[in-house]
Amino acid sequence: MDREQNELNEQLDPSRIPNHIAIIMDGNGRWAKKRHLPRVAGHKEGMNTVKKVAIAASNLGVKVLTLYAFSTENWKRPKTEVSYLMQLPIRFFSTFVPDLVKHNVKVMVMGDTSQLPKATQKAVRDAINDTADCDGMILNFALNYGGRDEIVRAVRGIATDVANKRLNLDQISAKTVDDYLMTAPLKELADPDLLIRTSGELRLSNFLLWQIAYSEFIFTDQFWPDFDANSLEKAIIKFQQRKRRFGGLINK
Ligand code: IPE
Ligand code: IPE
Ligand code: MG
Repeated sequence: MDREQNELNEQLDPSRIPNHIAIIMDGNGRWAKKRHLPRVAGHKEGMNTVKKVAIAASNLGVKVLTLYAFSTENWKRPKTEVSYLMQLPIRFFSTFVPDLVKHNVKVMVMGDTSQLPKATQKAVRDAINDTADCDGMILNFALNYGGRDEIVRAVRGIATDVANKRLNLDQISAKTVDDYLMTAPLKELADPDLLIRTSGELRLSNFLLWQIAYSEFIFTDQFWPDFDANSLEKAIIKFQQRKRRFGGLINK
């Protein structure tokens, strides 16, 4: 263990690890550009970061790690970049599933996967099946995910069930909305405690619009490929210094 890690471990309160951490993994392209490499080299390195950070989160006792991997708007990118990004889950899962199983990590995916290439869909399905019996951390990938798309689908689902009389109009509550969102399988862990965005951008880019109502936000200038276990620990330490009030007052 290096000195920095030792110091971080001293500052970290292991009894107050955020249950659900969500990360907007941004800055792969700029990381590559800085090194005069093609943008996809950044995505490749970013994939290695996912591996390291997922294991680190699992070791720290995080219960859900949600990673924004591809947004509903990312289709606007050049075809070659999109197709590289679509191959990444195949490469990622083919090499990493045994490690995930070893760490008892369960893979989940949210987003419209029906739009992904068939081989990518299969890689995702296999990873979900191969880790189905794991009951440790949930590694939840947002893949072709958009917060507005998610809300539109929830509204459609609710409207359909009201029309079919499966749901009563005056019974619709915030809990009902939770139940129709893509995070519904996460139950009481659906809302991230901590949201991290790398690369210095200060925006949400259509990530988890409903669920982040009371999340703590941490923005770091590090590009995603430079993010590591220590960066994660630092973010958690900052999170532990925040005072979450949820609209109320802190008990004296
Ligand atoms: C994040 O890195 C990965 C995805 C959005 C798929 P970017 O590709 O957005 O990298 P920058 O923001 O252009 O540096
Ligand atoms: C958000 O990053 C999406 C992912 C990290 C998958 P973008 O790079 O797509 O966001 P913008 O375009 O800078 O808002
Ligand atoms: Mg970006």
